[in-house]
This record gives sequence, structure tokens and C-alpha cells, in this order.
Amino acid sequence: MPHYLEEQDSHVTKIAVLGAAGGIGQSLSLLLKTGLAPLVLRSPGSHVHMAMYDVNRDAVAGAATDLSHIDTPVSVSFHAPDDAGLERALTRAQIVVIPAGVPRKPGMTRDDLFAVNARIVAGLGDAIAAHCDLAHVAVLLISNPVNSLVPVLVERLAAHGAEQAARHVFGLTQLDAVRASTFLRDALGSDSHDMPLVPVVGGHSGDTIVPLLSQAPGADALSPDARRALVHRVQYGGDEVVQAKNGAGSATLSMAYAAARVTAKFVELQMGLVPELHDTLYVQLRDARGRLLAPGAEQVAELVPGVEYFSVPVTVTGKGVSHVHGELLARMDAHERAQLLPVCVKNLAANIRAGQEWVAAAP
Ligand code: NAD
Ligand code: LMR
Repeated sequence: MPHYLEEQDSHVTKIAVLGAAGGIGQSLSLLLKTGLAPLVLRSPGSHVHMAMYDVNRDAVAGAATDLSHIDTPVSVSFHAPDDAGLERALTRAQIVVIPAGVPRKPGMTRDDLFAVNARIVAGLGDAIAAHCDLAHVAVLLISNPVNSLVPVLVERLAAHGAEQAARHVFGLTQLDAVRASTFLRDALGSDSHDMPLVPVVGGHSGDTIVPLLSQAPGADALSPDARRALVHRVQYGGDEVVQAKNGAGSATLSMAYAAARVTAKFVELQMGLVPELHDTLYVQLRDARGRLLAPGAEQVAELVPGVEYFSVPVTVTGKGVSHVHGELLARMDAHERAQLLPVCVKNLAANIRAGQEWVAAAP
């Protein structure tokens, strides 16, 4: 497969997938190779390229070569640590998606992955700082624990002088909303083809995940017990997959689906097909110096005092987050406000602190 980088020009939208040979990385790359084709066809003269990087050379070479035979107009290259592969994958990438790192086994929490994955993500952050345009890149982090690793990445990039890093780094929590939608439909016993949308805010782990059933159409038909069971199932849905895989990892296919959906929005933005995108993303609301991320962040920060990072609806433009939307949070019902949110904030604050302390102590 030819190396592609040398041929790039300004019409190319380049996505780097770091950890591309893994369970999520391979499935996500397949969904991008196939799912982005309509965007390219809609934009004559445009080109989308996907650079797949992994420390496992044979696995990434195999996956990329395999994908490159698919007849869609999205080009693919593969990169491994030998041959300056990380630099080649990141150079001129506008969108970087990171599923690199170890997954859980039964009996583990996401926090048990922190020590190993923090080192991986910090190393990738250093490379992003060295090879990407930090004023324009979008970095989408999948690796767990998201609650702690987004702070590691943001603060590592900031340490490299990326003043605006927080506006460009996003933790992916979409899988929680995907599950919430599916599980609410199950709970309602509905056979409608319309999936009910459930906003989910907070973090991505256990009770830091806050499904806002008060704002989900149809959820008011559930009994209090059914509602409690549904919230718990959304918060611990990841465990169902970890247990079913019985030592062979955690969710990969559903995560790839969730990540592909949001990555496609960033591609549309980068291609100039839309002026802005809207989604719920885990972002830094305000930094240690009290600087707010964007208009609207203050309202959210007031509703979740004590946490700097939170998954919340945002608007993103080519220059990063342009607006933070607190309307959903402001409309929480009494149970969500008095029960779910305080537990989320307490545990999320500890997760965030763990990430920040790790960065402060790291070489
Ligand atoms: P996996 O083990 O199948 O794949 C991970 C890949 O990362 C492997 O191919 C490995 O070689 C690669 N890798 C390791 N170190 C690397 C480095 N320094 N640079 C590049 N690649 C590197 O794991 P998976 O099932 O794909 O899960 C990946 C991560 O995603 C895990 O941490 C998991 O917990 C997390 N995850 C997050 C969500 C979410 O909702 N955010 C959902 C599911 C899984
Ligand atoms: C998930 O929610 O499926 C992921 O975070 C993976 C995990 O460890 O559960």
C-alpha cells in the first residue's frame, strides 16, 4: 500500500486512528471507510484519508490492507512505531481518534486501567503536540477511564503550550446515550422503529453517568422502580459486555458505532459541509485558572460545582468548542438534581483529580 502523506493537499480531510488494530480501532476504521463515502461523493474534488496507527505492526498492516480493498473513495494508510509511523500518521491530521489502550476484564473497574492507559495517552498527547496544528485539530478520546484521561490529555497538551487545548479535546461518552436509547425502548416494550432519544450527561463510568429520563420522550410512562432499574442499566451497561466476553475485553462494536457517528460529524465540519456541529461531549468547562471554555460554560459550571470536566451538549466549529449548553441540566427533575447529580459530581471530581495529579507528577 503506498504511503499517502507526501501527496496531501489542502482538499484532504485526514483522520488519524491511534490504536487502529484493536477491537474498536478495526471496527471503527471499517465504519469510517464505508460510512464516509457519501460525504466524499457529495463534495466534488474532496478527499478523505484515514491513517491507521498501532504499536502492533502486523495487525495494523493487515487491517489497513484488508480495508484498502473496499471500493469506497476513502483512502487508507498504515503506520507503526518503526519508520516514524506516529509522526507520519499525525502530520496534517485534522481529526485524531484514540482507542489505544487496554480494555477491562471481569472484576475490574475502568479506574483499574488508569495506570497503563495514562502512560499510553500521555505519550500520544506528546506526539499530537509535536505534529498537529493544535489550533485546529479535534482529538476524540475513547480510551478508559475517559473521566481521568481527558484531563491527562488536555493538561499534557497545555503543558506543551497549547493554551486552547481544552477547546479541541473531547471525551467520547456517546455509547451511554446509544445504550440509554436502546434500553428505554426495551423497558417500554416498544416495537416502534423510532428510537427514543435519552440525553445523558456527566462522565463515563458507573454513577458518574447521568441519564436524564426527565427529558426522554416516553420515559414518564415507567414506574419509579422501572425508572431506577433503567438508570442503573445505563450506568452499568458496560459490565454486561465485559461479563459476556468473559475475559476477552469490553464493548468494541457498539463503541465503534457510537464513535463513527460522532467522527462523521467532525469530518463534515472539516470538509466545510456544515458550519458547526452539535453533540454531547466530555470537555473541560473551566481550567485551573478559572478560564471558561466558551460562552455557556459558566451556567453549566454553576450547576455542577466542584468539577472542571463534564459531558454536556456543546457546539463545535473549526476553531473548537464555541458554545456550551446548560439547558438540559437546568431542566433536570428533583430526583436527578438531588440524587443523581451530587453522586456523579463527587465521584467525577475524584476521577478528574487522579488525572490531574498524574500529569503533575509525570516526567
Ligand atoms: P484492544 O486491546 O482490542 O485494542 C487496543 C489497541 O491499542 C491494540 O491494538 C493495541 O496494540 C493498541 N495500543 C496499545 N498501546 C498503543 C499505543 N501506545 N499507540 C497506539 N496503539 C496502541 O482494546 P479495545 O477493546 O479496542 O478498547 C480500547 C480502549 O477503549 C480501552 O481502554 C477501553 O476501555 C476503551 N473503551 C472506551 C469506551 C467509551 O465509551 N469511551 C467504550 C469501549 C471501550
Ligand atoms: C463501555 O462502557 O462499554 C466501555 O467503557 C468499556 C468498559 O470498560 O465497560
